[in-house]
Amino acid sequence: MLKGKTVFITGGTGYIGSELVRTFAGYGARVIFSFNRGADKAEKLTGEVAGSESVKMNMRDVKEITHVVEQLYARHEKIDILVNNAAISQVMPLAMLDEDDVDEVLAVNMKGLIFVTKAVVRGMIRNKSGVIINMGSIAGQRILDVPLTYAMTKAAVNGMTFSLAAELKRFNIRVNSVIPGLLAGGVARAVPDDLRDDFIKHCAVGRAGTAADIAELAAFLASDKASYINGQNIASDGGI
Ligand SMILES: NC(=O)c1ccc[n+]([C@@H]2O[C@H](COP(=O)([O-])OP(=O)(O)OC[C@H]3O[C@@H](n4cnc5c(N)ncnc54)[C@H](OP(=O)(O)O)[C@@H]3O)[C@@H](O)[C@H]2O)c1
Repeated sequence: MLKGKTVFITGGTGYIGSELVRTFAGYGARVIFSFNRGADKAEKLTGEVAGSESVKMNMRDVKEITHVVEQLYARHEKIDILVNNAAISQVMPLAMLDEDDVDEVLAVNMKGLIFVTKAVVRGMIRNKSGVIINMGSIAGQRILDVPLTYAMTKAAVNGMTFSLAAELKRFNIRVNSVIPGLLAGGVARAVPDDLRDDFIKHCAVGRAGTAADIAELAAFLASDKASYINGQNIASDGGI
């Protein structure tokens, strides 16, 4: 489904990210993924997934982002697909938030997202071809007991998807978001048991999602099979 495509996945060392790496490679893509603190995990994953390549890139550092992506374009003729997956959450009520906490989440989940996309899109515009998949969250869609900064930045992903789909359409670049529900790992590991049980009770499929549920949807949206899907925020949440 993705043979001949080169994909750049941010946060490839995480719960969803590592499954994205395996799934995209399984569909024939050449996979490059970024990590920040997880150098060991990155090394293990490149060993596991033949032909994959990892790069250290801190989403908080715009200079590093720009440099890393320039280096990628120096080594690879093109990047066909960008998966904006890296993000963080914070378990912190409003009353306890200080400026540094807010800056950190906004820097990784919003500012970094903008500058990775800007750097990668340059090459896509040159090629007049590309696909961008943004990782949103159910936390940005409805009333849920989740941290404020996380919910806000995930809601922003929807707006980014709408805006970029319109701006980039003339360059034959599609932009969509995947909206996971509550998953069995990753940022959801901090969700208390009572909230997890409540989600599962109200979920039509009756279970938490898996990284594979999300990776399969992202791979489909990135493929030419989804060539008529653009500017959409598409949920994979088991029906909630
Ligand atoms: N898990 C869920 O239930 C769920 C539900 C809805 C949406 N999502 C979304 O899915 C995406 C992946 O989440 P996940 O659950 O897989 O989380 P995760 O396991 O915590 O992974 C987060 C990834 O982001 C990277 N990252 C964190 N801070 C970074 C920074 N400053 N610079 C560069 N990379 C950084 C991490 O890299 P290092 O480990 O190398 O530092 C890691 O690869 C996120 O966008 C999240 O909002 C998850």
